[in-house]
Amino acid sequence: MNGYRCFSCAATQAAEFTGCQCPSCGGNLDITYDYEAVAENIEQLGTDRARYLFSYAPFLPVTKPHSPFPLRIGATPLYPARRLGRSLGLRNLYLKDDTVNPSASSKDRASVIAVRRALDIGADIVSVASTGNAGSSLACVAAAVGMQAIVFVPETAPAAKLAQALSFGATVLAIRGNYDDAFDLCRVASDEFGWFNRSTGYNPFTREGKKICAYEIWQSLDGRVPDRIVVPTGDGNLLSGMWKGWCDLKGVGLINRMPKIDCAQSEASAAISNTVRRIRDGEASQIDWPAIAVDKVKAATIADSIAVDRPRDGLAAVRAVIESGGEAVTVTDADILAAIPEMARLSGVFPEPAAAAPWAAVKQMVGNNTIETDELVVCLVSGSGLKDIGSAQKAAGAPLVIDPSIKAVRDALAA
Ligand SMILES: Cc1ncc(COP(=O)(O)O)c(C=O)c1O
Ligand SMILES: [Zn+2]
Repeated sequence: MNGYRCFSCAATQAAEFTGCQCPSCGGNLDITYDYEAVAENIEQLGTDRARYLFSYAPFLPVTKPHSPFPLRIGATPLYPARRLGRSLGLRNLYLKDDTVNPSASSKDRASVIAVRRALDIGADIVSVASTGNAGSSLACVAAAVGMQAIVFVPETAPAAKLAQALSFGATVLAIRGNYDDAFDLCRVASDEFGWFNRSTGYNPFTREGKKICAYEIWQSLDGRVPDRIVVPTGDGNLLSGMWKGWCDLKGVGLINRMPKIDCAQSEASAAISNTVRRIRDGEASQIDWPAIAVDKVKAATIADSIAVDRPRDGLAAVRAVIESGGEAVTVTDADILAAIPEMARLSGVFPEPAAAAPWAAVKQMVGNNTIETDELVVCLVSGSGLKDIGSAQKAAGAPLVIDPSIKAVRDALAA
């Protein structure tokens, strides 16, 4: 890394800076690289697969990127989803299956880069505000290196996510409030007690972890660039990270075109999509980014991981959708619920509600002819269905309960 640049006012900071937000305007920071220098070093990029995400060392803003990490994070499969795709006439649909990360969500790449950063600057306690997955992920990664993690979650977070964080030994503070309350409290407490705050968007290192997902997709496709990648979106950091990864690859000349990055949101938590549409409906030919305020909403969706009032990486995400020519898609909770067993039955990959939103969005985009049938489309499956079985049960129904007899089996099958 060679420094930081503010997404909002473009002010820059040197690499030695250790804050999280722009000292001039409070905006989110982007970590910058000297692409010419990185380009001299990329021959080995991703080749040492045994080192998983650390095989992308030239693009990682941590010291000792070559030293091994105790968990296998990243290098998740990109599956061609032929049956699922065929159900809509799509010939090139892929699922990026992040459910197989150690804590079963996309968050682990961000957690490991954040924990490596915390170690680099000598922090010994890491904190995070989370709808549930970032908390269970940080708890998991901190456990792997023996660090203490403090997790702020809304008390309504799905039980499985809380059980994960507690099992990994984190201190879990369940807030009588929503994710936005947890976020604000984590920030105040981290400042007061001197913890390293990994909260999504606020901490620039999370994007540097999430971007690695783009490199993995690129490599799984043998250097091809997808036409579009559909990303489930709440705070917008997963999406801005995806965009950043492809920007890095283009910056060093490994690719010569960019994919469209589509955001898939619940219509009941659509701050980023609303902002994209508002900007696109506007008259201005040139967007004045420092003047853009991202919308706020009152979020209320079954997809807890993307239930966000005020997106904490909103500006970067809005910019990524607009500059990539992506779509801002909003789907209903019913669409999301229906997508869970559909994806599971037709691909073998079991998503939590947020992770089903991209498939619901693809269905909508095929329905209104936004996607052509031969496009190469990647859906990011960002979290496992096991994290929220209540929602899966709502969508998949209950098993047949029968007596232990062959007659009962015959009767059940006949019914
Ligand atoms: C499973 C899952 N999908 C998607 C997201 C959305 O990521 P972001 O909040 O960065 O938009 C999250 C965030 O918690 C998540 O846990
Ligand atoms: Zn700024």
